[in-house]
Amino acid sequence: AQVYLNGQFIPADQARIPIMDRGFLFGDGVYEVVPSYGGHFLGLEPHLDRLDSSLDAIRLRNPLSRESWRSVMRRLIGAPPAPDQSVYLQVTRGVAPVRDHLCPEDVEPTVFAVANPIKPRRPEIATQGVTCITRPDIRWLRGEIKSISLLAAVMMRREAEDEGALEAIMVRDGMVTEGAVSNVFMVHRGRLITPPTGHLLLTGVTRQLALALAREHDLEFLETQIPIDDLREADEIWLSSSTREVLPVTRLDGQPVGNGRPGPMWQRMDALYQQYKEEVR
Ligand code: PDD
Repeated sequence: AQVYLNGQFIPADQARIPIMDRGFLFGDGVYEVVPSYGGHFLGLEPHLDRLDSSLDAIRLRNPLSRESWRSVMRRLIGAPPAPDQSVYLQVTRGVAPVRDHLCPEDVEPTVFAVANPIKPRRPEIATQGVTCITRPDIRWLRGEIKSISLLAAVMMRREAEDEGALEAIMVRDGMVTEGAVSNVFMVHRGRLITPPTGHLLLTGVTRQLALALAREHDLEFLETQIPIDDLREADEIWLSSSTREVLPVTRLDGQPVGNGRPGPMWQRMDALYQQYKEEVR
């Protein structure tokens, strides 16, 4: 398959990055993952907006115009009707002459993008849900930046996998922040609640879409802190991400969530989300 690297479309096995790339040496870069269904992107503009915010936050200029990003990404997924794929894109600060935390101003960013198939959701997920563990949020305090430095997320996903869970839910000072690679929602005493955005978590595009769908369809929600003790008493817990959509969590740290089955609010939201996907397609 072809990938995009610094202005060229080339076969993946011919793409090469110099060892002095700051992404390789420092994790000095940002990324996005944008889903597409049948050859149409879902949330392309919000993803490109968030790329701009991440780049601004690390003081890196966006090397491509909005129109160039769109055309690179369209070319990677192919014309409709194409299979469901996500585009991974990443911008690093580029290749500097020496390894120095301080980077010279004239270094050209490295731009890379590739399309990956989206695995269809297993049917059991809608009937049985997924399992999560909780872990202390050991990450840094700029979670709104979609940084390629993902060591904590890599460690947490491994810990989750080792305990037979899909995701680790992060807890900081007694409050839920987000999943290692997803945002978190709960239904508690009839209300849909998700932690507020800010420096502690990523403003998920799927989170924003779920809230927009809730608003449009008169589902009440609240963006407020979730004490971990409330999460343990929740009737429903959901995860959201671009590649996994909105998932029902039915076990948390080995205990059933609510009645241990995907809940009615999740079913409602999933129906709205699937309908939205169909409209995109
Ligand atoms: N991860 N929070 C974190 C820490 C994430 O890594 C992600 C997504 C999300 C959900 O954001 P969105 O809805 O915009 O995908 C929240 C991507 C999919 C990844 O790292 O592969």
